[in-house]
Amino acid sequence: RPVRRCGASLASNYSQTSEIVHLDWENLGFGLVQTDYMYIAKCGQDGKFCKGELVPFGPIALNPSSGVLNYGQGLFEGLKAYRKPDESILLFRPEENALRMQTGAERMCMPAPSVEQFVDAVKQTVLANKRWVPPTGKGSLYIRPLLMGSGAVLGLAPAPEYTFIIFVSPVGNYFKEGLAPINLIVEDKFHRATPGGTGCVKTIGNYASVLMAQKIAKEQGYSDVLYLDAVHKKYLEEVSSCNIFVVKGNVISTPAIKGTILPGITRKSIIDVAVSKGFQVEERLVSVDELLDADEVFCTGTAVVVSPVGSITYQGKRVEYGHQGVGVVSQLLYTSLTSLQMGQTEDWMGWTMQ
Ligand code: COI
Repeated sequence: RPVRRCGASLASNYSQTSEIVHLDWENLGFGLVQTDYMYIAKCGQDGKFCKGELVPFGPIALNPSSGVLNYGQGLFEGLKAYRKPDESILLFRPEENALRMQTGAERMCMPAPSVEQFVDAVKQTVLANKRWVPPTGKGSLYIRPLLMGSGAVLGLAPAPEYTFIIFVSPVGNYFKEGLAPINLIVEDKFHRATPGGTGCVKTIGNYASVLMAQKIAKEQGYSDVLYLDAVHKKYLEEVSSCNIFVVKGNVISTPAIKGTILPGITRKSIIDVAVSKGFQVEERLVSVDELLDADEVFCTGTAVVVSPVGSITYQGKRVEYGHQGVGVVSQLLYTSLTSLQMGQTEDWMGWTMQ
């Protein structure tokens, strides 16, 4: 059967980078480092993605009238590859990202690649960019799958063509604080999501809409913003780029997934790890009062991993946790998860993939 390939026509202006020579593996942050290859597959009116291909990393050509540029018809994912001490490379639960992209695609009226194509594309992209996977313990290769309405539309409608892209970048810590606790401000004016909206899927617009509050918070010296629910304005939702957990004694609580919160894969993994360590985990409404009364607070996400929270400011009142040190529960969960992701302990959960 002839193989229909379709990516290369989109890629242009490629120039091989020698950046790796200058890359300081000791001080990787969370900024784009352009790597060698990206993966592209297109899907036309039949709703089926063609067999994608690896092309040199570089700009893509998009019709100015494309669905993604005009009406925000786009989704992204995020996952990581780690280099093990024996140099082999591990992926963490890539099929979960594939399934989440499918859920998001349905909400955004887009076709999505199969789990098999998604995982295979991730593997191909990581292998083609193998030299950019940081040495063990120095960071990870962040993998960014994108799904967008690339076909032209003018009236509001789903695009007639879709493009699935994966690019990668070596990364270190997400927050400039590194592994030190972050300082959050509870936002009570702007909201991230509303019931019936798209807060529960990883659509690109969710991230554009939080930039304003994040900018203001950063100008005031905070690391990021914690959102409240838009109806009662008193229950926790999530931080701009990650989920939130509150620890009180042996109980770890986190907002339930009810349509306005992103179902984080790290969130889900941390819940399982915490239960396996004997904690009682509750997914429910968590009020801002409970947050202020907590023993520890931490955030989870692919980019942030497990990030301890050092302080919360709400309506001018600042509450500090653990005297700015990393809380014992956050530390335990961070170590348990990352040692598994990095292949330093046996994968007792069956979550990693070679
Ligand atoms: C991730 O953790 O992968 C995310 O999608 C957050 C992003 C804003 C960096």
